[in-house]
Amino acid sequence: MNIILEENDLGFLAASYLKKRLKETGGKMVLGLPTGGTMEGFYKHLVDFYKAGQISFKDVITFNLDEYTGLSATSPQSYRYYMDKHLFDYVDIKRGNIHFPDADNENYEKACKDYEERITAAGGIDLLFGGVGRNGHIAFNESGTPFDIPTHRVKLAESTRKANARFFKGGIEDVPYYALTMGMGTILKAKEIIILASGENKAEAVYHAVQGNITTLWPVSALKEHKNSFILADAKALSLVSKSVLEEYKNCSLGQSCLNGQNGTK
Ligand code: GLP
Repeated sequence: MNIILEENDLGFLAASYLKKRLKETGGKMVLGLPTGGTMEGFYKHLVDFYKAGQISFKDVITFNLDEYTGLSATSPQSYRYYMDKHLFDYVDIKRGNIHFPDADNENYEKACKDYEERITAAGGIDLLFGGVGRNGHIAFNESGTPFDIPTHRVKLAESTRKANARFFKGGIEDVPYYALTMGMGTILKAKEIIILASGENKAEAVYHAVQGNITTLWPVSALKEHKNSFILADAKALSLVSKSVLEEYKNCSLGQSCLNGQNGTK
C-alpha cells in the first residue's frame, strides 16, 4: 500500500491519473467506480476532460462497487442515478458497458454470482477507485467482512445508514437496510486500487489503514496486502498518522510505489 498526501484537489489528481492511464492503454480499460460525496470532484474533472476532448469513454467498461436494494434505478438516491448525474450522462460511454449489481433481483445470490461473472468476462478490473466509510468500509464491506468474500448482499451498519442519511430527503428512515456490494475479494483482485479520503471524519479509518494491524474490523486495512494500492488523502484525513510514517511515504505518486522505487508493500 502507498500513501499520497494531497493538500489541494484529490479529485483532480485522481482524474488526471485516469487520463494518463487511458492514454497509455489506448482508452481501453475496465474500471471499478464508487459513489459518495468525496468522489464528486473526481467525476466533475473527468467530465471537464471529456468536454475538452482530452479523454473518451467509448472503449471503457465500468463496474460500480455497490448499489442499495429496494430503490429503483431512477430513484435519485440510487447509485445508478448518482453515476448518471455525475458522469455517464455527460460522456461517450456505451450504455451496455455500464455495470451495476442487479439490486432489483430478489434472487440476490444469483445477482451477485452474475456480477462476478460479468467482471470475469470483462477480463477483471484494471483500475478501481473507491472512497472509505468513517468505519473503514470500502464499497459496502462493513466491519468484520472476510477479505476473500465475492460480491454479496450486506446488511448496512447503523453508522453507515446514519452517515448516508444526508443524501435522503426523509433522513435515516428512508435509507435502505441492505445493499449489494463487490466483496473485499472482488476489490482486492483489481490490478490497481486508488482510495480517496478527505476530512477529519475519515482520519480514524485512514489511521487503521496505514498504522493499524490488518484486520477485518477495519476493511480498509486489507489494502496493505495489495502492492498497487494507493490511499490518496488530504491532511485532515491523515491527521492521526504519525509524522515519521508520513515521511516514509513522501516520494509516492499515483501509479508509482514510494518504497525506494520497489513495488513493495508496507
Ligand atoms: C458509501 C459508499 C462507499 C463510499 C462511502 C463514503 O457508503 N457505499 O462506497 O466510500 O459512502 O462516502 P463519502 O465520500 O460520501 O464520505
